[in-house]
This record gives sequence, C-alpha cells and structure tokens, in this order.
Amino acid sequence: MEHDFWHQKWSEGRIGFHQPEVNAYLVSYWERLCLAGGDKVFVPLCGKSKDMLWLRDRGHDVLGVELNPSACLDFFAESGLVAETGDAVKFISHRCENLNLICGDFFALSKESLADVKGVYDRAALVALPKDMRADYANKLIELLPKGVKILLVTLEFDRPQGPPFSVSGEEVNSLFEPRFKVKRLGGAVDGDRQEVVWLLSD
Ligand SMILES: C[S@@+](CC[C@H](N)C(=O)[O-])C[C@H]1O[C@@H](n2cnc3c(N)ncnc32)[C@H](O)[C@@H]1O
Repeated sequence: MEHDFWHQKWSEGRIGFHQPEVNAYLVSYWERLCLAGGDKVFVPLCGKSKDMLWLRDRGHDVLGVELNPSACLDFFAESGLVAETGDAVKFISHRCENLNLICGDFFALSKESLADVKGVYDRAALVALPKDMRADYANKLIELLPKGVKILLVTLEFDRPQGPPFSVSGEEVNSLFEPRFKVKRLGGAVDGDRQEVVWLLSD
C-alpha cells in the first residue's frame, strides 16, 4: 500500500478500522504473553488505537509507530494525554509518560529502536497490507525484534480478494513467522462473514 493511500484515508476520515473501544481479544488474551508490568510493548501501524491506552494502563511502556501525522495528533487530543514532540532520526516522536508514538514509516525503523521490546501487539497491521508487503512486514519484524519477544497477532479470514483488510490464512501466518517463532492459535470467533483468529508467536 502506498503511503498516499493511508494519508488519503485519514484526511477523508475513512477509518472504519478504528475501534471506539479497546479490542476484546487484547483484553482476553494479553495475559498469555506473561509480560511484566514495566515491559516495553511495540504496536506497529498503530493508528490512534485505544489499545495503546489499555496497554499503558497495564503499566507497559508503549512504543507505537504510525505513518499519518494527524492520526498521531488525534490520539493525544482524544486521549487527553499531553505529548512532548521532538525529532528522532527519520521520525517525529510524540512522547508522554510510558508512551512514545513515533510518526513515520515502519520500514525505516532501526533494530536499536526496538532493542528492549518484550511484547508486540498487532491488530489490523499485518492484515492491512497486500500479500507482497506482508512478507516484507514479517521479515522486517523478524529483523527488528530481540530474542525472547512475544507477539499477540489478530488476523482475519474471509472470501473477498480486495482489501484492506486482507484475508490472511493460518498457512500464511505459519509460513511468514515460523522460521523464527513458534506459532500458536489461541482462539478467535466468527464475525459475520469473516473468521477472526488470535495467535501467539513466541521464540
Ligand atoms: C488498518 S489501520 C490499523 C490501525 C490500528 N492498528 C488499529 O487497530 O486501529 C493501519 C494503519 O497503519 C498505518 N500505516 C500504513 N503503512 C504504514 C507504514 N509503512 N508505517 C507506519 N504506519 C503505517 C496507516 O496509516 C493506518 O493508520
């Protein structure tokens, strides 16, 4: 997906992916990662998701990356949190206590920036990308993430070729991540014409 595609969605307010409430799978399954309160959690392609607030309220140090500047500003305006904004290499950082939302391209992240991450939460990130980009995304995550990290991943399966969101099969999740992670299906549910699936990826 080109950057302009996402910028246009945000500027036109076509953000049906944004959930008004914290994601129910996050609440149900997060404890399966067995992380400690202060552990750092990475939220790729985070939009202005309220899930980051939930993770922060659990005591985690949250690092989100989002391409669109308005999404980052909206996150702080809507949450009531006050950010200090500053330049980081290739990114603009919006930081408050225990939360750093960096605005820029996920694919430009460096290994150093994620060196102390212990957990990752992916809801609507992998499934937001077309097939060739999903491979690039998984490879980049694998390159960036330190040993011992655990990932909670939510995918969707349905019969529609166009996206986003894109349908991602269990076979694809395995083939993208199994070289590095043990892949375990934790649960999921049918929602209308689509199957939602929750995965735990761990070393
Ligand atoms: C489908 S939305 C999901 C947002 C969020 N995870 C949620 O649950 O609401 C995908 C988000 O990824 C952002 N995005 C797309 N490509 C990106 C990239 N290369 N780097 C950082 N963010 C990106 C888009 O602007 C959009 O906000």
